[in-house]
Amino acid sequence: MTRRALVTGAGGFIGGHLVTYLQDQGWWVRGADLRLPEFRATTADDFVVGDLRDPEVCRRACDGVSEVYALAADMGGMGFISKDPATILRNNALINLHTVEAARLAGAQRYFLASSACIYPEYAQTTPDVRPLREDDAFPAGPQDSYGWEKLMAERLCVYYAEQYGLDVRIARYHNVYGPYGTWDGGREKAPAALCRKVAEAPPGGEVEIWGDGRQTRSFCYVDDCVEGTYRLMRSDHAEPVNIGSDRLVTIDELAALVMTAAGRDDLRLRHVAGPQGVRGRNSDNTLVRQVLGWAPRIPLEEGLAVTYRWIAGEVAAARGAAAHATPA
Ligand code: NAD
Ligand code: GDD
Repeated sequence: MTRRALVTGAGGFIGGHLVTYLQDQGWWVRGADLRLPEFRATTADDFVVGDLRDPEVCRRACDGVSEVYALAADMGGMGFISKDPATILRNNALINLHTVEAARLAGAQRYFLASSACIYPEYAQTTPDVRPLREDDAFPAGPQDSYGWEKLMAERLCVYYAEQYGLDVRIARYHNVYGPYGTWDGGREKAPAALCRKVAEAPPGGEVEIWGDGRQTRSFCYVDDCVEGTYRLMRSDHAEPVNIGSDRLVTIDELAALVMTAAGRDDLRLRHVAGPQGVRGRNSDNTLVRQVLGWAPRIPLEEGLAVTYRWIAGEVAAARGAAAHATPA
């Protein structure tokens, strides 16, 4: 029998990659999203375009599938999630409340939630040389922003659906995922895509703007590693939340330097400007994920950034070409 899965957020970055990965593993896949993917055609076997805050759209999306991958979210990098906290919490809570209920009513056997490193308490992320975050650092809770609080609520929702209804749930806490076919401008882009765009747009001898002093730290996970880890988690027996991320800590200035190397640009200077910074430092402790899934990210940051930079530089060039050919109003 064909294995049938739903991927919500399939019009977005990770969801788009996940659809193709699942099909490569032999799954029939339905995507659901507010929109079709922006940067390339979807490969999904079926696609529901609709608003997953609406229970009826969730019902249509879940109809006849045995597994649900819940990735839809109103999300973005620091420039986005630092604004409009009420809207973010409301939209994401509605999506998650209605999606898990529709999955249960449709008789789905297994349910995946894309949670986030943003669920971890702010008090554990106050220095650049932060101790890597273990799964049991989540409590006592204290996420920095409404996006993180909602993800934590969605995790608990899954735990209670497992307890009360026997839904088999899997929960990954993604740590800053990057790669091609993700948002690279418009305000939702995360640091890797933003810095690729800024480097691609910089004139010879120009400057690249960095929010903050550039000494804040993060770890970055390439999207192919992320979807492979996600699938391993779904095939495993591990029902507790687990980190899916890289444990290589870099400063944002180091990230910018790696992007410039990928671009072959040694003519640029960094300029530090005010901007939303989020936590001071964040890294993933991968002890548990290594133990329970035998998973570790394989793509080095240099390699992943080279692929990502090439794709974003192409998008920047295409956008410039389109602007040059636009008819003046
Ligand atoms: P993305 O923004 O590219 O994709 C999310 C998709 O959800 C978008 O296509 C959007 O249109 C869709 N969506 C938003 N509101 C919707 C609604 N009401 N109805 C239907 N669809 C809706 O984001 P992504 O980077 O692919 O992230 C996927 C998931 O992983 C999200 O849940 C996100 O919170 C989580 N996550 C991502 C990262 C990361 O670094 N990318 C890190 C931690 C967690
Ligand atoms: N986005 C962005 N754009 N960030 C920049 C820039 C820029 O031009 N310049 C410097 N930064 C800095 C930010 O100030 C922040 O300190 C750091 O780079 C990382 O920013 P983001 O990549 O935007 O977000 P994040 O790592 O704080 O959080 C992201 O990852 C989480 C999971 O790890 C977000 O995408 C969250 O939504 C996600 O859950």
